[in-house]
Amino acid sequence: MPKTKAKPSPFPAEPALLRAPRAVIVGASSGIGAALARRLAAEGHRVAVLARDKARLAALCAEITATHGEVRAVAYPHDVTDLKAIPALFQRLVKDLGGIDVFVYCAGVTIPVGIDEFDGDKDQQMLQTNLAGALAWLGRAAALFQGAGAGQLVGISSVAGDRGRVLNPAYNASKAGLDAYLEGLRNRLTRRGVHVLTVKPGFVDTEQLKGSPRVFAVISPEKAADGIWKAMRARKQLVYVPWFWRYLMLVIRLIPSFIFRRLSF
Ligand SMILES: NC(=O)c1ccc[n+]([C@@H]2O[C@H](COP(=O)([O-])OP(=O)(O)OC[C@H]3O[C@@H](n4cnc5c(N)ncnc54)[C@H](OP(=O)(O)O)[C@@H]3O)[C@@H](O)[C@H]2O)c1
Repeated sequence: MPKTKAKPSPFPAEPALLRAPRAVIVGASSGIGAALARRLAAEGHRVAVLARDKARLAALCAEITATHGEVRAVAYPHDVTDLKAIPALFQRLVKDLGGIDVFVYCAGVTIPVGIDEFDGDKDQQMLQTNLAGALAWLGRAAALFQGAGAGQLVGISSVAGDRGRVLNPAYNASKAGLDAYLEGLRNRLTRRGVHVLTVKPGFVDTEQLKGSPRVFAVISPEKAADGIWKAMRARKQLVYVPWFWRYLMLVIRLIPSFIFRRLSF
């Protein structure tokens, strides 16, 4: 049987000593993930960007290449709910990039539900994208980093994970689950030289926010990406973006249940 030639990496070859940090962002076709891809590329990273929308990923990579005059971002179309595809795609990323230094899970959906509505399909869609996909990807990256004794894992969670609320219990559950998983990874991997960052944005002006009722203090995706990058650089464990959500959520977490269940947010 004729041997098939291994595909060369789409990233330009670099001398090992001058190698740029290599990042993967899952959920990078729009919003916070796209802004973070631009930021990491500007900070000298090579970035693999993943999401379902091929055209948007291609446009993002073309923009980043044009900005820097060299290929710093490459697109890998992928649907995170296709869990079976993850092992092979992960291996391909490791091969194309020559290793991974930073892994960011940003994919997420919020599907609006009525306050009296219980829709199992909507709930499953949120759980599969925000939590099952996150565990499948982050678990692989965690194993790689544990073996290497280095690496940075970043999970984009939400202030919505801090309490179960009347508006969207399944979204709250998906983000609370992600918080617990990231904390568990941190407790396992800090001793192995791996940094794990949990990011909790407040309201960010992205497609996901469209249709959300009663938003305030909305920030741009670029501002969110700036907060995330600074927390990555400072090797923080948990960051609220912007910072004041830490205190707002502290107050919200302290509201006793007998009052909280009478509130409508
Ligand atoms: N905006 C906010 O106010 C806010 C607040 C707190 C937390 N967050 C979190 O921030 C993260 C990014 O959201 P965003 O606000 O930037 O919204 P966004 O612009 O809608 O971005 C969501 C990203 O997730 C990707 N995605 C969704 N489903 C996917 C799937 N099945 N497979 C692969 N990728 C998928 C989307 O790409 P494709 O559609 O191309 O697949 C897109 O790149 C989410 O985890 C969200 O929960 C957002």
